[in-house]
Amino acid sequence: MSVSKNAQTVLERRYLIRDEEGAVTETVDGMFHRVAKAIAAADLQYDREADVAALADKFYHMMTELEFLPNSPTLMNAGRPLGQLSACFVLPVADSMEDIFEAIKQAALIHKSGGGTGFSFSRLRPNGSTVNSTGGVASGPISFMRVFNMATEAVKQGGTRRGANMGILRVDHPDILSFIDCKKDNADITNFNISVGITEDFMAAVIAGGDYDLIDPSTKKVVGHQNAKLVFDKIVEGAWHNGEPGIIFLDRLNRDNVVPAQGEIESTNPCGEQPLLPYESCNLGSINLVKMLKKGEDGRYRVDYDKLKATVHAAVHFLDNVIDVNKYPIDKIDEVTKATRKIGLGVMGFADMLLYMGISYSSDEGVQMAREVMRFINEQGHLASQELAKVRGPFPLFSQSIYKDQAPLRNGTITTIAPTGTLSIIGGCSSGVEPVFAYVFIRNVMDKTELIEVNPILKERLIQRGLYSDELMRKISKEGTIAHIEEIPADIRDVFVCAHDVTPEYHVKMQSAFQEYTDNAVSKTVNFSNSATLEDVAQVYMLAYRLGCKGVTIYRDGSRDNQVLNIGKVK
Ligand code: CDP
Repeated sequence: MSVSKNAQTVLERRYLIRDEEGAVTETVDGMFHRVAKAIAAADLQYDREADVAALADKFYHMMTELEFLPNSPTLMNAGRPLGQLSACFVLPVADSMEDIFEAIKQAALIHKSGGGTGFSFSRLRPNGSTVNSTGGVASGPISFMRVFNMATEAVKQGGTRRGANMGILRVDHPDILSFIDCKKDNADITNFNISVGITEDFMAAVIAGGDYDLIDPSTKKVVGHQNAKLVFDKIVEGAWHNGEPGIIFLDRLNRDNVVPAQGEIESTNPCGEQPLLPYESCNLGSINLVKMLKKGEDGRYRVDYDKLKATVHAAVHFLDNVIDVNKYPIDKIDEVTKATRKIGLGVMGFADMLLYMGISYSSDEGVQMAREVMRFINEQGHLASQELAKVRGPFPLFSQSIYKDQAPLRNGTITTIAPTGTLSIIGGCSSGVEPVFAYVFIRNVMDKTELIEVNPILKERLIQRGLYSDELMRKISKEGTIAHIEEIPADIRDVFVCAHDVTPEYHVKMQSAFQEYTDNAVSKTVNFSNSATLEDVAQVYMLAYRLGCKGVTIYRDGSRDNQVLNIGKVK
């Protein structure tokens, strides 16, 4: 097994089983056996003679070879009493005190098990409107978001990982301006990512420079107007200031709503990659693209499409099984999830794959590679789901779905690009479809010795050329990028680009390329340098809109005090 020391530490801290005294009682190998066995067992529900031992073996190898990993809750909880295996949930928030606090309770149960929750607050009546039963005044969506936030904070201590939330408000909600500003202070509502739900009507008004209607959700009446460009500029200003809010294109999410008769999609999961109906959950999994390469006789790396195909088919089988062995936190989620059987298969290590192939992330060739690989995964994923449907039947709402005239599918959606925050550490690869953030980190360990961590692909390349030295690594770490280091030959500098060398335009182009062949959405952050202007951000928003993205998240370097990753600083 090729799990690194870093990965071992992460797994020990949160994933492995502990006894009552808190001592770890499971090995990493034991964890993979536990997961493989629990997930393979679902085959018995369809075939009492199924060879689950052989299937468990296949799943075990796929994980220990770091070719495919399911989302964190599956690694943590499969084959254990809690048994909650999904990363993504969306809960409805209806406009009554009972419903609001019911949603808070349900979210607490989900957070306890390692899942994240998304909510639309768009149905709550605006601040200042009347409360019929008491004659009092409603406090509006933002004040209730603070209650959700505090509940999340309290659950944080006892759970498996920090609960994460997505909060969405439609752009036509009367409280939209205070929503845009609600995270202006970096210390506020910290357990939420927020996104404005943008409509086509709104975008048309932005482009035309006109006004649009604000609608009170409780009465459905137009209660005011706003200038669309003014609201758009406020969103851009917030994103420039500290990355919040993001935007999601609601009409695009609903254009791809698999079963429109089930209602509207109004929210995504916390990181934005998984649009879901109220009470729906989804389990994700990611293929490590680095492991899908083969070296040709000419010494060049190419995608091993036979291996990728086999891995996609096994991964779809795995994720479909997860739906059956999952123990859902509430009955309604069990029922709604099994009606559409959505899964989210994606990739990680994409940037590393390009490095091996000698292709720059910030190039048309890189974008083309994204299209090629994701199209293949999406096509094979759909074929795999069709094959499962032949044996297990299509998802129960198939006959009402947008696919009803096509070959039956076992799963309502098949592909999603997750951030793979933890999975990529376990897999030892670049995260999701993001570019490499930095190539060299220098850490000072306790006895003041310096620990130089270098991206292994760059290290190999520099050693090959006889260029590797600690001094050079210190220089790269200080600059944060190799783009301007002249002792490194241009052909290496052109390929080994980091997140800040990639222009915002290429960040968006890459996101759009993956979106083209992804059923759900793509988790991606467009990185800006600290000196980026409001106009730069606005242009990226418009580009993402034009190129068919389902949402945009941007981050300007240095715009939050405690950002997770710093270039040119100690990790
Ligand atoms: O790598 P890992 O499987 O741990 O998760 P990820 O790909 O970084 O995140 C996938 C999804 O897991 C997010 O979009 C959230 O829905 C959920 N998540 C969460 O609820 N809490 C976290 N601390 C991290 C992720």
